[in-house]
Amino acid sequence: MRKGIIAGNWKMNLTPDESVSLVEEVWERIANLDRVEVVVCPPFISIPRVRELLDSRKMRIHLGAQNMHWEESGAYTGEISPVMLKFYGVTHVIIGHSERRQYFGETDQAVNRKVLSALFHDLTPIMCVGESLKERESGHTKDVVVTQVKRGLFEVPGNLARRVIIAYEPVWAIGTGKAASGGDAQDVAHLIREVLTELYNEEISEEVRIQYGGSVSPDNISDFMSMPDIDGALVGGASIKSESFAELVRLA
Ligand code: PGA
Repeated sequence: MRKGIIAGNWKMNLTPDESVSLVEEVWERIANLDRVEVVVCPPFISIPRVRELLDSRKMRIHLGAQNMHWEESGAYTGEISPVMLKFYGVTHVIIGHSERRQYFGETDQAVNRKVLSALFHDLTPIMCVGESLKERESGHTKDVVVTQVKRGLFEVPGNLARRVIIAYEPVWAIGTGKAASGGDAQDVAHLIREVLTELYNEEISEEVRIQYGGSVSPDNISDFMSMPDIDGALVGGASIKSESFAELVRLA
């Protein structure tokens, strides 16, 4: 059985003080729940303070990052390495979010390097894939997603691939309030499992967790969680308010 996983992507929001307050408020509301894994992905600069809080109060919340470089160290001004993330007990890292692809020119090849590096450093990559509105309207959703999954997992051996989390996030649904329907998201999640079976085998395909992301809210989370191939959600806007994030975890 795959365990459900709700991850909050805070993007470029919240100072370290605000990050700590949000985690405290969320924890108050979810401390008695343990059926799903909860991950928060604050901005890098908040990670040390959030780590301290999670440890001091023994909170069952995992700490994630929103991006990383694939190298361990070197002349890469402005970047953060997997070794640095590990130092603060980061366990998950979002890779290839559409905002990184769109605004920072991240290619499938860069995504692949980061996925390999994260796995090599024992971090769990949350690899994002998804089509733009134009690609959807021209009927290319499936090709785009299949290509992104295959390129992102290029040369990732099966024993490591089973640890990858794939987030299907249609670009047109992110931050727009227009989520995909549960059925459409399920179709793509199912397709991703077919690709995984083709690349690896059915056992690995069944083990990989797939999230949906894009305008997930307490109003629609149950639609997604009830789908057989969807195991959780990657949440932006609704994850930076304690009531909605906690409610999402409770409903999931
Ligand atoms: P959203 O963002 O929930 O605000 O649509 C999701 C994401 O970007 O991961």
